[in-house]
Parts: sequence; structure tokens; C-alpha cells
Amino acid sequence: MTGMRLLLAGFGNVGRRLVELLADPGAWPSLAALDLKVVAVTTGRHGGWADPDGLAPARILAEYEARGRFPQDLGTLAAARELDYDVLVELSPLNVAGRGEPAIGHMRAALARGRHAVSANKGPVAWAWPELQAVARANGVRFLHEAAVMDGAPVFNLARHCLPGTVVLGLDGVLNSTTNVVLGRMEQGAGLAEAVAAAQAMGIAEADPGADLDGWDAAVKLTALANVLMGAGLTPEAVRRRGIGHLVPADLAAARGRGRRVKLVCEAVRRDGRVEAVVEPRELELGHPFARLEGSDSVLRVHTDRMGRISILEEEGPGLTGTAYGVLADLFELGPAPE
Ligand SMILES: NC(=O)c1ccc[n+]([C@@H]2O[C@H](COP(=O)([O-])OP(=O)(O)OC[C@H]3O[C@@H](n4cnc5c(N)ncnc54)[C@H](OP(=O)(O)O)[C@@H]3O)[C@@H](O)[C@H]2O)c1
Repeated sequence: MTGMRLLLAGFGNVGRRLVELLADPGAWPSLAALDLKVVAVTTGRHGGWADPDGLAPARILAEYEARGRFPQDLGTLAAARELDYDVLVELSPLNVAGRGEPAIGHMRAALARGRHAVSANKGPVAWAWPELQAVARANGVRFLHEAAVMDGAPVFNLARHCLPGTVVLGLDGVLNSTTNVVLGRMEQGAGLAEAVAAAQAMGIAEADPGADLDGWDAAVKLTALANVLMGAGLTPEAVRRRGIGHLVPADLAAARGRGRRVKLVCEAVRRDGRVEAVVEPRELELGHPFARLEGSDSVLRVHTDRMGRISILEEEGPGLTGTAYGVLADLFELGPAPE
């Protein structure tokens, strides 16, 4: 493919950072090889904007900054179905109650028309991965989602490119940054509300941290990983899930007294031909590799048949640039081979 015309579905934190990166090509010369052109951007409630000749990234940023919205009334599904573009980039919010919709519908529409789809939204991977993969294959295009778990850290790409012929027997990790920060603060004596406020002040927890605290975010991430790396065929509802909302500082102090730390652990294992998945707070010995995580660190350990356990550690979460990089890594995957 020479040049890629992008339809951006979503212009929140990640969408804006992605467009900021595109607006400053001098800061990242290797992006030029992709020859990216944004031909449309849509939002939920703040309008949309399309131009088949391309919207200059600086113009997109300036328009939204000046007016707080885009000038056209452009729905994402209609855009995905009707506009001319090469890649749908899905950057809308995770919708747990809607079981990954409407993002799944956006991706299905793009893939069915022979357009690639790239998602930072983990909903489509957790609730519809087999179906979307099948639609992509049938139409000769790709459905990629590196940013959906652990930002741009190469989780899906590692499995896809670096472990050919191995079987993933299991996965475990600490995948939710908010709960890791909150538990760290509670170890220092803060109550849950104070610890959450600290995580929000750091820009890590969302205004409504419910999906983090009750383990839903981690369960969706674990499902996405188990489906792609283990062919698990799960949905997040099948994950045995317990959050951290019931814990108090005294619980963490007592664990410390036993030489342990509490972490919200995600685990998927293959048992009797099926994959079982669990998210729950666990007390870990201080020598356990997950017990050493601090702040917004996250870790995934992949248990393989031939290579034993391989860990990917993302330290001090790189934040929005890391997530935007995950999207760009997928676009590099679709783009011309590197020199
Ligand atoms: N933030 C991170 O560090 C991070 C890391 C990894 C993955 N992710 C994932 O990346 C996605 C984007 O995250 P974010 O932090 O940028 O979210 P965000 O700040 O909440 O922004 C979401 C954007 O999506 C738009 N939107 C809502 N419904 C839409 C629809 N039907 N079609 C098109 N756009 C729609 C929103 O528009 P309105 O404002 O008009 O509603 C907003 O522009 C999420 O799925 C998130 O889970 C984020």
C-alpha cells in the first residue's frame, strides 16, 4: 500500500495525541514512510469532519480547539460505510454495558468493505475477535489492535511475529494501572477514596474509576489476550472477577506483615481443553516478579510450551504517547516494509 487514508473514530485523549504526532512530522521522521492522510474524524457528541483530499493535522487540532467540536454532522457508522478511506482507526471509549458496541459495528462495516481496521479500544477484541478476524480474512484485510492492551508495548506483535510454532499454555499479569496505583497508596495508609483521588490527580484513573476498581477493565484486557494468544473464545462475562473495592489499608498492612503485597492479578490457564480466566486481588511473596511493580507499571507473562515463561514489563506507563504509538505500530504493520 502506498499512502494510507485514515478514518479516525474518536478524538479524545488518544485521538488528539495521535493527531498531535502527525502534526509534527519533523519530530518523528520515520512516520513519513507511511504517508498518512486523515480523511475523516468522528466523535460521539462533538460532530465530525471529512475531506477526501485530507485534513491537515494542525487544522484538525485548531478547529477543535477553537470551536470545541467539528463542523459537520457525521456519524461513525455512516462514515465507515460510505467514505473512501484505507484504515478505520477506532479510538472510541470501551463500552462494557454495550458489550463492545458500537465499536464492533464500526469495525465490521469497515472490514466488510475491504478496509483495514485498527483498534485501541479493547471492546472489539474482547467481545468479537473471532468474528472480526473472519470478516477481515474473507475480505483480504487486517484487524489489528496492539494499543488495546499495555499501550504500545509489543504484546500481540510479540506473539504474532516472534514465537512461531509455539503454543501459549497460559497468561498471567497485572494489567490495570489504576488499581496498582491505588493499592500502592493504600499500602502507605490512604483510604480507598483518597487513593483513587491521588490516581486521578496523576491522570491515571478516569473520572469514574468503577470499571478499574471492580476488575472489569482487567477482565476485558485478559479476555482480549486470551482470545488472541490462546484462541480462548471467551467473553469478559466468563472471567471469574473480583475487584479491590472491599480492601482497606489494614488488609494491605496485614499482608505486608506476612511478607507479601496485594496485586490485582489476571490469569488465564488452559484446563481440560478450555481456557479458564480469573481476575482477583492476590497476596504475592515479595520475591514474586509481580510484587515488585510500582505505580502505573504493568506486566504480562506468557507461558509457552517451548520457551517457558516470557515477560513483558511496561514501566512507568508511557501514557498517551505509548497508546498512540501502539496505533502507529499497527499502521507500520500495514504499511510498506521498513528499509
Ligand atoms: N487513554 C489511554 O491511555 C488508553 C490506553 C489504551 C487504550 N485506550 C483506549 O483507547 C480508546 C480511546 O481512549 P481515550 O482515552 O482517547 O478516550 P476518551 O478521551 O474518552 O475519548 C473518546 C473519544 O471517542 C469519541 N466517541 C464516543 N462515541 C463515539 C462513536 N460512536 N464514534 C466515534 N467516536 C466516539 C468521544 O467523542 P465525544 O467526546 O463526543 O463523546 C471522544 O472523542 C478507548 O477505547 C480506551 O479504552 C486508552
